[in-house]
Amino acid sequence: MYRVLKSISILFKFALLLLLWRLLFRKAVATTNQILNESIVFTTAQLEAFKNFDHDEQLQPLQPHKPQQQHRSISQITGRSFLCLPFFRVFNLELPDGGPQLAADETIAVSGDHYALGAWSIAKAVPLRAQNKQRNKWFLRQYICASHRVYYRYLIYAVDADGVRVLRRWEGQQVPRMLQTFEIYRPPGLDIFGQAYSRSVGGGLWLERGWLQRQYVIELKFIWERHLELFDESVGHKLRLKLRALSMTDNALIEVSRYGYNRSSFRAQGRRGVKYEDGDIVIFRISQALDVENAFRLSIYELDNAQMSLAEVYIRPDQLRGSRGIIQLPIRDPMNRRVIGQLTLPYLIIQPMATAAKAASNLRVSFQRYWPNNWPTLDVGNRGLGTSYYQASNPLVENTIESFLAVPQHKGDMVHLDVQLTRDFVPIIWRAFGFYTTNQPSTQPIVDRFDLRYVLIRQLSYAELKASRVFMLRRWMVQEFTHLNVRNVSQQQRLFPKLSEVYESLPKTLGLIVEIKWPQLMASGVLESTQGLNKNAYVDSIIEVTAHFGCGRPLIFASFDADICTMLRLKQTAFPSILMSTGRTNIWDAYMDLRTQTFVQAINFAESAEILGTAPHVLNFQPKQQQVNLGLDLLQVVFIWGSDLRDEQLLEQFRAIDVSGLIYDRMDLVGPASWKRSPFFQAPQLMEVFGAQCVAIGNSTTVPGARPTKPTVWPKMR
Ligand SMILES: *[C@@H]1O[C@H](CO)[C@@H](O)[C@H](O)[C@H]1NC(C)=O
Ligand SMILES: *[C@@H]1O[C@H](CO)[C@@H](O)[C@H](O)[C@H]1NC(C)=O
Ligand SMILES: *[C@@H]1O[C@H](CO)[C@@H](O)[C@H](O)[C@H]1NC(C)=O
Ligand SMILES: *[C@@H]1O[C@H](CO)[C@@H](O)[C@H](O)[C@H]1NC(C)=O
Repeated sequence: MYRVLKSISILFKFALLLLLWRLLFRKAVATTNQILNESIVFTTAQLEAFKNFDHDEQLQPLQPHKPQQQHRSISQITGRSFLCLPFFRVFNLELPDGGPQLAADETIAVSGDHYALGAWSIAKAVPLRAQNKQRNKWFLRQYICASHRVYYRYLIYAVDADGVRVLRRWEGQQVPRMLQTFEIYRPPGLDIFGQAYSRSVGGGLWLERGWLQRQYVIELKFIWERHLELFDESVGHKLRLKLRALSMTDNALIEVSRYGYNRSSFRAQGRRGVKYEDGDIVIFRISQALDVENAFRLSIYELDNAQMSLAEVYIRPDQLRGSRGIIQLPIRDPMNRRVIGQLTLPYLIIQPMATAAKAASNLRVSFQRYWPNNWPTLDVGNRGLGTSYYQASNPLVENTIESFLAVPQHKGDMVHLDVQLTRDFVPIIWRAFGFYTTNQPSTQPIVDRFDLRYVLIRQLSYAELKASRVFMLRRWMVQEFTHLNVRNVSQQQRLFPKLSEVYESLPKTLGLIVEIKWPQLMASGVLESTQGLNKNAYVDSIIEVTAHFGCGRPLIFASFDADICTMLRLKQTAFPSILMSTGRTNIWDAYMDLRTQTFVQAINFAESAEILGTAPHVLNFQPKQQQVNLGLDLLQVVFIWGSDLRDEQLLEQFRAIDVSGLIYDRMDLVGPASWKRSPFFQAPQLMEVFGAQCVAIGNSTTVPGARPTKPTVWPKMR
C-alpha cells in the first residue's frame, strides 16, 4: 500500500517539476504574457490519451457547421482537464473462492470508458498480470487521467488461433465499477472478480458470458424423452456421456449443462463425462472459431465403469448443417465397430450476427438479465387489450397499434405482442402461423369455409400479405377482416403492422414483450406448423429491426422456442429474453422439448442459458402459487400469462407474491386504472437507463435525449 502511495506522489512531484520546468523554460524564452495551459505541459497525443468519455461532454448539443469543429474536442479537454494529472492507477484483483476457474488459455483484463482502458472495446482492454502460480491474484498499473470519474469492468478472454480475443466472461452489473476523482489519492483497494455493489440491487456476484463475434456455437441437445436406442436390452440405463473434439489443434471449447434446480449452468465436462439416463436433459455446447469445422466422438459409458466405453458415436462436420436439424447416427461397439444401436439427436447452430450491430457491440452495459428485483409487479396487456377474434365483446382488434395504445391509457406498463417474418424477412405482428384467404376478387362474398384456404405468413411476401383477403373462422362462422388489411383504413387499425411501425408508433415509456413465433414439435411427434427460413437469419432480422427502430425502451424478447431464447442470448447484449411455456395444462398438448414441459425445467433452462427468466401459464400455479419463488430465488423474472388471469382477485393474489409481471386480457376491465398513479416506466430515470441499450447494440454512441451522469443504484430490499 505504501509503495503505491509513494508511486503516486512521485508521479505527482514529477508532474509538478515538469510544469515548473516548462514554466521557467518558457519564461526564459518567451515573453511574460504567456498563460500557462495544458497544451504546454502535454503533447497533443498525450491529451488525446486522456480524452474524456464522461457523458456531460458528449451530450452538449452539437452545433452544426461551427467553424472550429477541429479544435472543439481539444479545447474541451483542456478546458476541463486543468486538474488532469496522469497517474498510475493500480488494479489489484482476486478471483473469489469457489468462483470461476480460469482455463489455461484465459487471461483477465480491465476495460473502461477511459481511453487508456480501451473505451469499452474488447480488443483494446488492458490485460492484467498474474501474480502467482494458481493465477487467482492479478495486478496492473495503468497510466490514466485523474480529472473525472472513470468507469471500468473486468473481463476474461482467451485468444483464438488467429490471435483474436474471444470474450469468455465479463462483469454484468448494470452500473460498472466507478473510480471517483477523489479516489486517486487513496490506496487502491482489492477488487474481487465479478463482485461489485454487493449491497445494491443487481450487485454482488454478477458475471455474464461473452456474446458471439468471430465464433459460432453448436448445441447437441438431449432434450427429448429418448435419444439412445441400444439393441441389447440387458445394458443398464444409467450411463455417462463424454464428448470429445477429434482435432486437438483448433481449441474448440466444449461445455455441458445437465439440468437440476440451481445447478444447470454450462461447465467443463468432468474427467468421466456427465451422467445421463432417458428423460434427463443434457446439452453439450461447442464454441469454435468461424472457420473451424470439427468432428466429434461421443463416448457412452456405463455409470460405474469408466474404464472402457460401452459404445461410441462419431459426428462428422458435414452432418451438422444449416441452423438446426436432427442427426441419426449409428452407435458402435468400440472394439469391433459393430453397430449396436442408434442415436437420434437434435442440434442447433448459432452464428454471430452478420451485420453492423455486432461490429459496434461493446462492454458498456449488458441488459441480458437486467430486471431489478425491487420493481413492482407489472401489468402487461396481452396483444394490446386482449385477444379479440374469439372474444366478440372486445372493442379493439388484437395485435393492432390501436389496441397497444389503449394499454397505457388504462395504466398498463407493458404490451405483449407476436412477431414473425414474411417470406421476404419483414417482421410483422400476427398471432397464428397463418390465416384463411381466397383468390376470389373482393367483390365476391364468401359464406362457406370450404371456399377458403389456409395460407402461412412465411409463404407470403409482405406485398402479397397486404394484398390478401383475410378471414377468421369462429365456430364454423366465416368472418371477413379484409377491410382492416387495406391501405385506406387508419394505420393504427391495420392488421399485420410491421414491427418497425409498432416501435415508431408506441411511446418509449410503454414496455414491450416481443414474442418471436416459431412452430414447435409436439410430444406426439406432430409439427405445430412448418417453417423453412434459416433460423439464424430469422432471429437476426428481428434483432436488426429492434436495434434500429426499437432500442431505448424496456423491451424483453420472449419465445416458446427455447432455442430462439438461447440464440438471442448469444447474439447480442442489449435485449433480454424469457422462455414462455404452457407447462402442464389441460388446454394444450405438451411439446416434445422437455425444457418446456414443466415450470421447473423452464427455470433450469433459464439458468442454463443465462437468460432473464420465464413466462409460464397460470394453470401451472393453481394449487401452489408459492412455486413462483423457485424462479424468483434464482434472481429470474417470472411473468405469468393466461386467459384465467382476467380476474381481479387472482391478479391481486399474484401481486402479493411478487411475480415480475402479469400478462392478461382486457386491461380496460380488470386493470390497475383505479388505483395506479401512472405506468411504471414513465419514471424519467428509467428512460435514461434504457437509453443505454442503443449504445450497447451500437445504434448510437450516446444515450439519446438524456443526461445519464448519475447512475441509478438501488439499495437492496430483501
Ligand atoms: C495554450 O497555449 C498555447 C501556447 O501558448 C496556445 O497555442 C493555445 O491556444 C493555448 N490553449 C488554450 C486552450 O488556451
Ligand atoms: C377504401 O377506398 C375504396 C376506394 O377508394 C373505397 O371503395 C372503400 O370503401 C374504402 N374503404 C374504407 C374502409 O374506407
Ligand atoms: C438508430 O440509428 C438510426 C441511424 O442513426 C436512427 O435513425 C434511429 O433513430 C436510431 N434508432 C433509435 C431507436 O434511436
Ligand atoms: C443455489 O446454489 C448456491 C451455491 O451452491 C447457494 O448459495 C444458493 O443458496 C442456492 N440458491 C437456492 C435458491 O437454492
